[in-house]
Amino acid sequence: MSLSKAQSPHTMNTYGRLPVAMSHGKGVRLWDVNGKSYLDALAGIAVNTLGHGHPKLVPALQDQVAKMMHCCNYYHIPDQEKLAAKLAELSGMTNTFFCSSGLEANEAAIKLARKFGHDKGISNPQIVVYEKAFHGRSIATLSATGNAKIQKGFEPLLAGFIRVPLNDIKALEAATQDNPDVVAVFFETIQGEGGINPMSVDYLKDVRALCDKKDWLLMIDEVQCGMGRTGKWFAHQWAGIKPDVMPLAKGLGSGVPIGAVVAGPKAAQIFQPGNHGTTFGGNPLAMRAGVETIRIMEEEGLLENAARVGEHLKQAFTKAIGHLSGVKEIRAFGLMIGIELDMPCSAIMGQALEAGLLLSVTADSVIRLVPPLIMSTAEADEVVSILVPIIKTFLAEQGSDTHHSPKHSTLQKA
Ligand SMILES: Cc1ncc(COP(=O)(O)O)c(C=O)c1O
Repeated sequence: MSLSKAQSPHTMNTYGRLPVAMSHGKGVRLWDVNGKSYLDALAGIAVNTLGHGHPKLVPALQDQVAKMMHCCNYYHIPDQEKLAAKLAELSGMTNTFFCSSGLEANEAAIKLARKFGHDKGISNPQIVVYEKAFHGRSIATLSATGNAKIQKGFEPLLAGFIRVPLNDIKALEAATQDNPDVVAVFFETIQGEGGINPMSVDYLKDVRALCDKKDWLLMIDEVQCGMGRTGKWFAHQWAGIKPDVMPLAKGLGSGVPIGAVVAGPKAAQIFQPGNHGTTFGGNPLAMRAGVETIRIMEEEGLLENAARVGEHLKQAFTKAIGHLSGVKEIRAFGLMIGIELDMPCSAIMGQALEAGLLLSVTADSVIRLVPPLIMSTAEADEVVSILVPIIKTFLAEQGSDTHHSPKHSTLQKA
């Protein structure tokens, strides 16, 4: 079967697809319809926590499909209670609303913040959002997103957002000074689509303190960086803080569509019957996927694995390419890794595919690796052995391969 980059005749032209169709997977490997195998360092964009065809997840989902996939929220759904209780235990928060995607979780967060304001008598609530943020592509979430390319053509954007730079507490204070309409601060602990950009531990603590002082909601989008990817359940836990609202999705269902917005005591009672809802949200199949994903992650020590294998990858990349002048920075937080080059490098995605490695390039110049959390160090070494020559050749072809000293950043030092 041969596939081109040409648009398919019947699906909308929303994606610039690579010329390949995947057929099936096992562990951290996928096979295309022609039988070629790929090492998966992308996990369907940070989704396949347990890789492909996990021997414990597959029978559990088969069992659930046979029993019941969907029944709707007119009725109690026991696995919703189970998953919500587990998320409360892992996050130290209290109550969860379930939906089916990241943007839906963020949409719910934005509604929570607005109603939090209205309940306090604020009729024009404002939410602080960040440069380079990505929160989704609905009108509300693309308005919160800090990327003009994503917003272009969909104006008028939703009002009610104040934008600030990352890691600058003075800028946040200045942007909100004497503004009684501010109700919430909303960011990703580590920006994913924006280029693997972390909020520093100090900044996270300072914003938590400011939100407490001003009675604002701290809303942390952990859709991409959460669910164990950085070696803690949620990336903000590296700073020892708790948000009031935490949207989740992606890795929570290990491939089954799911979203969740977890709330702490300050936000847990804002929604009342009739305020919010969604047909698919929290359906028995998605809930079973969430319950089993977390159970298997705990059983197999996948947080520790993410931290260990991520550190291994960081060391290996730093040693192999950290000294090249075309490599601006290697940012690695467990298995959320960005290698920033000093030039646009989207071509590397196709070159890696050709060489049997799945990854993505985000923010034009950041090679992003977000593999399944089951990846072993041997498989990580394979990733390095495929990717390093590709990066070296790419830089050499661009005339940028002079040596210099290595640079990398951590959540702590950022
Ligand atoms: C941090 C973050 N928030 C929200 C979203 C949107 O999630 P979804 O594509 O499931 O709507 C994404 C997707 O990449 C994301 O990375």
